[in-house]
Amino acid sequence: MSNNKINLVNNDSIVKNKIVNHYNNLLPDDSLALHFGFYERGVRTLSDAELNMNNYIGRLLDLDTLGTTDSKILDAGCGVGGTSIYLAKKYRNIKFVGITLVPRQVDLANKFALEKGVSTNTEFILGDYCETGLPDNSFSHVFAIESACYSTDKKRFIQEVARVLKSNGKFVILDGFVRGKKSNYFVQVAYRYYCDGWAVSDFIVIDEFLSHLKDVGFDDVKVRDITNNILLFMLIGWFRGLAYFLFATPSKKRKKKKSSNKNPFTYFIIKVFSPILILLSHKLRYIAITSVKKPK
Ligand SMILES: C[S@@+](CC[C@H](N)C(=O)[O-])C[C@H]1O[C@@H](n2cnc3c(N)ncnc32)[C@H](O)[C@@H]1O
Repeated sequence: MSNNKINLVNNDSIVKNKIVNHYNNLLPDDSLALHFGFYERGVRTLSDAELNMNNYIGRLLDLDTLGTTDSKILDAGCGVGGTSIYLAKKYRNIKFVGITLVPRQVDLANKFALEKGVSTNTEFILGDYCETGLPDNSFSHVFAIESACYSTDKKRFIQEVARVLKSNGKFVILDGFVRGKKSNYFVQVAYRYYCDGWAVSDFIVIDEFLSHLKDVGFDDVKVRDITNNILLFMLIGWFRGLAYFLFATPSKKRKKKKSSNKNPFTYFIIKVFSPILILLSHKLRYIAITSVKKPK
């Protein structure tokens, strides 16, 4: 019994170290986004699509109608604060609090918030979204974009969201979800490569997640499969990344880094082959889920 507990704690810290190492080396471009872009009518460039994902989150959170000065939104797994900073600029009377496991991201988020003139209605803190230490019932809404997949205990994450969320507050999550667990051998292998490439232990099993939401006390659950809106972004990203890798990386450097993701074969598998295979097999979908915390 006690051995199991020790193993769990160790696994948890190994997973966290992996995430911190991964994101310490990952810097965003001008959009400050560490997420996929959302294409819809009128969106042309990759950067527009990344920013438009923030608009989409704002719409899911009904921010246009959340006008009071004490409104507070939690950005669980905030990266360098891109979404919160963008929305804080658009909605000056709402406060955005971001939490991330990565100390460097907290520093960068604070620096970017200052540069964009939103340091008074943003705050970025270091911590675990499963154990935030934030007060009960203190947030109007909570969102998590491409971050919940990193949690090794999804129910614990949902419970923590429910604890800090006010009654009738919205919980919005956008992420990679898997439908069912059975798939053929090639898809399983491709899926493992894809997870490793993103330092994710496992993407979220949709049916399990929906049942946790219900158990924890969320209501009015709406599921939107938005894979088609991000497909173009993924495709352009793959071809640009591949072209950059093939033509811009000096071949000597590539040879030296045989075991890293920059090895041409590994790179091709992780960035190009695996996602296509997984998406075509419908194993992995990009889904937005909104739900509301039921009053007690
Ligand atoms: C793909 S990035 C997404 C960042 C941001 N949401 C965005 O869209 O730009 C994943 C983020 O989840 C954060 N994360 C993963 N596990 C976490 C945890 N247990 N607690 C807090 N943040 C976590 C990472 O630190 C990283 O910032």
